[in-house]
Amino acid sequence: MAPLSGQPIIRVRDLVVGFGEQTVLDGVSLDVRRGEILGVVGASGGGKSVLLRTIIGLIRKRRGVISVFEEDLDRISSEEMQAIERRWGILFQQGALFSSLTVQENVQFPMREHLRLSETLLEEVATAKLEMVGMSPEDGRKMPSELSGGMVKRVALARALALDPEIVFLDEPTSGLDPIAAGDFDSLIVTLQQTLGLTVFMVTHDLDSLHSDCNRIVALADHKVVAEGSIAEMLESEHPWVKDYFRGKRSRGVAGTPTVAQ
Ligand SMILES: Nc1ncnc2c1ncn2[C@@H]1O[C@H](COP(=O)(O)OP(=O)(O)OP(=O)(O)O)[C@@H](O)[C@H]1O
Ligand SMILES: [Mg+2]
Repeated sequence: MAPLSGQPIIRVRDLVVGFGEQTVLDGVSLDVRRGEILGVVGASGGGKSVLLRTIIGLIRKRRGVISVFEEDLDRISSEEMQAIERRWGILFQQGALFSSLTVQENVQFPMREHLRLSETLLEEVATAKLEMVGMSPEDGRKMPSELSGGMVKRVALARALALDPEIVFLDEPTSGLDPIAAGDFDSLIVTLQQTLGLTVFMVTHDLDSLHSDCNRIVALADHKVVAEGSIAEMLESEHPWVKDYFRGKRSRGVAGTPTVAQ
């Protein structure tokens, strides 16, 4: 997918994050543009999930500035932060459905937290969100333990979409899925981006997702951003990790064209 020219909806500047002696991110700067799917890649343990979790305020940073919707997150009240939280949805790396709630109740959860809706309306909206990700009302009555891995991802996505967010954060949305299920999930994300105008921040290891979904890619290595741009620009990078990842034995080795039929 070609890069889009939208205004930055998220700006990260000179971000430093660490735990005790360990520095995970050391001077990370990036923009996420409105309406784009940004792919974030990097070695396992390199700090991708930490970056995502720091942007959404789950991990405290040591230094740097994070702005979302043109608000510096350090300079807003907790009420303003809550208002911003309502405008994004998150799909965590582990899926993280509540095991004691049904699929329907899982999707309703963020709405119960943030909105005052009648039971009937909650159910209707949750059913619509489930339908959006290809799940039936019957699926809605299942418990998470009764779902396949791909279904768990879909429900987690439906839950992330519950509040009609402008941004969704996806952490490895296709990991653990077979290539066909992963491809279906990729098409779904692109469809949602195009129909809902979503901005997507997607951490992924999946080269197919990077080729088919992402307008731009940011590569993290050595605790910072070492390459940024289109797939074609990734293929030109001389950074050893980026080179190995995009041009190594397991890569496709060619600049991809979108493989997702629209
Ligand atoms: N809450 C935490 N407390 C202490 N260390 C943490 C915490 N969260 C992450 N780390 C450490 O930060 C580093 C980066 O972890 P992170 O989960 O961001 O990696 P990742 O790039 O998402 O890897 P993967 O691709 O395997 O998901 C790791 O060394 C991890 O142990
Ligand atoms: Mg991770």
